[in-house]
Amino acid sequence: MEVIIKESYDQISLLAAQIIADLVHHRPRASLGLATGSTPLGAYRELIRMHREEGLDFSQIVTFNLDEYVGLAEDNDQSYHYFMWENLFKHINIIPANVHIPDGNAKDLEEACEHYEMEIDDHGGVDVQLLGIGSNGHIAFNEPGSSLGSRTRIKTLTQQTRRDNARFFASIDEVPKYCVTMGIGTILEARKLLLLANGASKAEAVAAALEGPITASVPASAVQLHPDVTFIIDKAAAAKLKREYHSELSRVDR
Ligand code: F6R
Repeated sequence: MEVIIKESYDQISLLAAQIIADLVHHRPRASLGLATGSTPLGAYRELIRMHREEGLDFSQIVTFNLDEYVGLAEDNDQSYHYFMWENLFKHINIIPANVHIPDGNAKDLEEACEHYEMEIDDHGGVDVQLLGIGSNGHIAFNEPGSSLGSRTRIKTLTQQTRRDNARFFASIDEVPKYCVTMGIGTILEARKLLLLANGASKAEAVAAALEGPITASVPASAVQLHPDVTFIIDKAAAAKLKREYHSELSRVDR
């Protein structure tokens, strides 16, 4: 595993965007696995800048998002569809048909989950999967206790997650009760994982994911099984790590 500790959130974002931009340059038809949440916003802003100022071309890029709420209209400003279009897609030259986000409004959600897995396969899998991490160690909506072999499926949101997310809604009653999320098994099949984390609130989860045992109690610890994973984190998020790590990409520490 490669762990890169940066001074600031901006530096994390820049490096993450550079890694993605490198892939886009070298593999114009690459599949990008994308995340929502506050963590990747800086990387998305940098990718938008690279597109506008340097002509970074997304015209053949295919994307797969990690998760979506069940029952929120795509134009609801809390849906992950809305988030992705507002914060990335509408600012770059991606073809809408190449964007994939789990469908939280499908009539048959289970069938939609299976279809999502098939679409990932049909595109030859995900080349780079961007991940954030929850302070409880979740990845995507795979909360503690999720099977490490899980696939895209419907999950019930924990009361804790609903309470955490209530700040974005008029009241907790409006926070959806269910979501659709890629499973941990699905995520582990991406060819490369890029996990970003910043801030002290992530320090414990980052330490548990990187240096703790592999356990369903810390879903992010499953990335230890992956042959090509890079953590890009700031000093605050690295504060509880015990081993020694680097500040630059070495491209050899797997
Ligand atoms: C979102 C997702 C979540 C977030 C995580 C961290 O698609 O998969 O697992 O990555 O909750 O959220 P932030 O970045 O807001 O701290």
